[in-house]
Amino acid sequence: MGQRTRPDTQLKADPYLGCSLLLVGPLSTAPPRCLLSASSLKQHRICCSRTFSVQSNKRSGVETFNLSDFVKESSNETRRAINNDLRSTDKHAYLPDDSDIGISRTVCFETYGCQMNVNDTEIAWSILQKKGYQRTSDVAEADVVLLVTCSIREKAEQTIWNRLRELTAMKKKRLKTRVPMKIGVLGCMAERLKSELLEREKLVDVLAGPDAYRDLPRLLSVARGGQQASNVLLSLEETYADVMPVHRSLHGHGAFVSIMRGCDNMCSYCVVPFTRGRERSRPVASVLEEVRILSEQGVKEVTLLGQNVNSYRDMSEKQVAGPEPSLSRGFRTVYRARPGGLRFTDLLDRVSLIDPEMRIRFTSPHPKDFPDEVLQLIEERDNICKQLHLPAQSGSNRVLQAMRRGYTREAYLELVRNIKRLIPGVSLSSDFIAGFCGETEEDHLETLSVIRDVRYNVGFLFAYSMRNKTHAFHRLQDDVPAEVKQRRLEELIAVFREEAAKVNAELVGSIQLVLVEGESKRSDQDLFGRNDGNLKVIFPRQEEGGHNTGISTDANMAPINPGDYVLVKITSANSQSLRGHALCHTSLKDSVKLVSVYCHERLPDSSSQYHA
Ligand code: 5AD
Ligand code: SF4
Repeated sequence: MGQRTRPDTQLKADPYLGCSLLLVGPLSTAPPRCLLSASSLKQHRICCSRTFSVQSNKRSGVETFNLSDFVKESSNETRRAINNDLRSTDKHAYLPDDSDIGISRTVCFETYGCQMNVNDTEIAWSILQKKGYQRTSDVAEADVVLLVTCSIREKAEQTIWNRLRELTAMKKKRLKTRVPMKIGVLGCMAERLKSELLEREKLVDVLAGPDAYRDLPRLLSVARGGQQASNVLLSLEETYADVMPVHRSLHGHGAFVSIMRGCDNMCSYCVVPFTRGRERSRPVASVLEEVRILSEQGVKEVTLLGQNVNSYRDMSEKQVAGPEPSLSRGFRTVYRARPGGLRFTDLLDRVSLIDPEMRIRFTSPHPKDFPDEVLQLIEERDNICKQLHLPAQSGSNRVLQAMRRGYTREAYLELVRNIKRLIPGVSLSSDFIAGFCGETEEDHLETLSVIRDVRYNVGFLFAYSMRNKTHAFHRLQDDVPAEVKQRRLEELIAVFREEAAKVNAELVGSIQLVLVEGESKRSDQDLFGRNDGNLKVIFPRQEEGGHNTGISTDANMAPINPGDYVLVKITSANSQSLRGHALCHTSLKDSVKLVSVYCHERLPDSSSQYHA
């Protein structure tokens, strides 16, 4: 928690891959890789751009706003209610044709939330860069400050409200000396809190929802003229397929590639379907092209991104008349699964063939979309990491049903068994929510028992935070007291740590293929990287050879640099990381052979490839 991932990047709150508070900014010093080109009840609640009343008694018969209502509303009423908004192709009556160019204007991005937001920042920046904007990491220098926001929990939004107040104070001070700074809110909070942000609090000049980044240049020029400007239209199609993001990855040798957006699942606690809209997939050709370009640029690890990444379904290809999609056994969806399209297994297959030296990960998947084909493919391909995120959310059938997750505890555990059978040695991680509506002590104990049963490496654990517009907000009672949620959360964390420590301890003595990321934060004598399971591995920078590990290291080893693959012999472990000694440089393809050479050096009769 609160750890720094690089000098210019901070992980605040939980180090969650899917939705923590990841604050990216100021900028990297490395040159960017430019590719081609609160939930207390209130009287009025906002849906997209629509204001509607909700009575404070949630059980008073207010109908739950379901997916189809939501889509209808977002495509009809949103259009009507938008202030100052025109589609990006339209001209603004008071703006000259070239008014959206940003020559000599500087923009500073601050990114909060999940990797989807990191990728959204890369897309928004790509769009502004083409219009001549310059990027700065220093808010004091910026003409425009854009916050890429997260709404998943109240705490995430609170952080952004606080930041907006700070920025507004800076803006007022600056008014006396310079051109006024413009403040923009992008992403989920823009979608969810349009009126609060624009009208009530008057803290922002520009609002752009997750599907409106193409409109940013125009919105900024409207704001420059002194008006507030917003576009929070949700789209059924927008995937930014033709916008090649300007990647500024966390560690220089990895990049996120968005493959789908939105979510149709409508889990009862989750605001995402309301802020990011319907599921839609980016055409396979544009994903492959981006991965190819990244490979040419020497990127060694690509993480495919999407709200439900493994529900990917590209309807733009010929094979639209395919079979019904197969789900994980024992799982169902709240929506009718549509047939046809090119599915996640096909995409993963094609992506992994582009560059055998490039590691492929994906996040965040839904456990319902793990048919055997995808598991077999993961096992088969050396460059697809044997690491799966399987968000369980709860171990209690009663709670899972209230959450509308579409599976039982038994089906989830059966899936885990199947995964472990098909992908031996797989690393598993999960999300859990403590203190959801109606959760009893017994339900909580069931969650603890799932954590013990599965034995995850990594967990992302959250106290339930009521979000308006969700099914739970309308229909369920947030009845677990805050201190009980907190206590249960701490118990989940303790059990997770205990189990992760045991799982990681089993890796002591093994040889791990590590992709080096850089210098360890704790000591400049150490380097760190990640193994296939995405666990952090720390090892001394200088290898002298002949460590007391029972096997020899390469005494003449060339210096180890970020982006190198090295084999590391693991000597100790805790719940969060592994420690060891680098043995030699390798390539992804050669690593399996080399591991077995090292293993035989020590244990000639060893059948294990990864334990020396
Ligand atoms: N309260 C707490 N946690 C939540 N998540 C989603 N919505 C909420 C909420 N209202 C968690 C889930 C999800 C992760 C991205 O965030 O565990 O998997
Ligand atoms: Fe939210 Fe559920 Fe969709 Fe994940 S699958 S984004 S938890 S609604």
